[in-house]
Amino acid sequence: MTQAELVFDPFSQEYFNNPFDIYERMRAEAPLYYDTGEDFYALSRHEDVAAALKDHESFSSTRGCDLAMVKADEPPQKSIIFMDPPEHRHMRSLLNKAFTPRAVQSQRDVVIELADKYLAGADPENFDVVQDFSGPFPVEVITRMAGVPEEYRQQVRHWIDTSLSREPGQMGTSEAGMQANIETAMYYYGLVQERRENPQDDMISRLIAAEIPDDDGHMRRLDDIEICGFATLLGGAGAETVTKLMGTAAVNFARFPDQWRKLLDDRSKIPAAVEELLRYEGPVQYNVRYTLKDTEVPSGKIPAGKPVFLLLASANRDSAAFTDADAFDIDRDRTEAQNLGLGYGIHSCLGAALARMESALALEKLLDFMPRYEVQWDGLRRVQMQNVAGYSHVPVKVLR
Ligand code: HEM
Repeated sequence: MTQAELVFDPFSQEYFNNPFDIYERMRAEAPLYYDTGEDFYALSRHEDVAAALKDHESFSSTRGCDLAMVKADEPPQKSIIFMDPPEHRHMRSLLNKAFTPRAVQSQRDVVIELADKYLAGADPENFDVVQDFSGPFPVEVITRMAGVPEEYRQQVRHWIDTSLSREPGQMGTSEAGMQANIETAMYYYGLVQERRENPQDDMISRLIAAEIPDDDGHMRRLDDIEICGFATLLGGAGAETVTKLMGTAAVNFARFPDQWRKLLDDRSKIPAAVEELLRYEGPVQYNVRYTLKDTEVPSGKIPAGKPVFLLLASANRDSAAFTDADAFDIDRDRTEAQNLGLGYGIHSCLGAALARMESALALEKLLDFMPRYEVQWDGLRRVQMQNVAGYSHVPVKVLR
């Protein structure tokens, strides 16, 4: 039987349903994939993706991180994730201060309190891991740190969900998504004005007071657009990712129950389980970059001026990098290769420590709440979004 032509369409139903079969073929048959229709490249092997993530002089972030953004004429909203050095370096060193290990640890009790709150209201007979638990709590942690009042914290998540959602075949943001982006921007603009008048002990107030060097080395304050851009990014990063990771955790531990049992027997394995979840089915599937010059990765040459998909989720399943890469194994040797689930290089996840802490605590709480459970497979629903993957609905029944 001849195999169908290899097509990587990141907005197709087939891809949303299961990207991993496509990745496997790409790694084997077309590690330097080129799409003539949309004129982009895609890298799927670990050695290529890691090399490109490291080479920020060739692979630029300034045009955005998804295909529609990179192809657009207008540059994206100003935000750390869309900056190259030296601007990125200045912004990152400023923001690193907000995510010190101490700042993250100080959120521990908040995370525990929120996780407990949502589980206390949950029905073990009819529990949806995402809708009832991992959806609502991470966004509350990050928006609270940023300074968003309680009544708007869930609203931030709904705006982001709408903005990232895609119908099959839809590359750019929908009308509803645009509207959600405008509402988010207006909301944060208003909040920044309030904090300028009346500073509080929160991240937005600290960003208002902070200074970074400009192109001439003079110190300057951040403007409203920069602060709003960062607040929006944080809301997105905080709302989408841990939510997805915990949904896929419930699904994968149900598929590999021996791994769940290992955790029940020995909770010291939780941090390793978080790393394996990030490797095996991390929420961020890819980031798109733009080549500033003719460049070379181990699988070949890419000309200047092209969008390039860096398929992190594929690289993490590359058997040239990880032994038995398709096995979900919380005890695997993690020194074999760099796990790219939280990115790599200068843009690697700023919220990594927070993400790890939230995920570990959430797993701990789930082990208590549902030591034995069954997934209601018919009710499983995947999200259809640009660059993040996971489930919107993971209904489970807790077994006695
Ligand atoms: C499981 C959870 C998470 C995953 C899988 C994840 C993944 C990633 C990845 C892959 C990148 C690299 C993007 C690139 O190279 O273009 C990134 C960057 C970033 N993440 Fe996360 N993230 C998570 C949680 C968070 C949280 C909770 C926050 C916020 C507090 C956060 C804030 C950021 C920021 C601000 C950046 C941009 C850093 C920069 O450009 O220097 N992330 N994340």
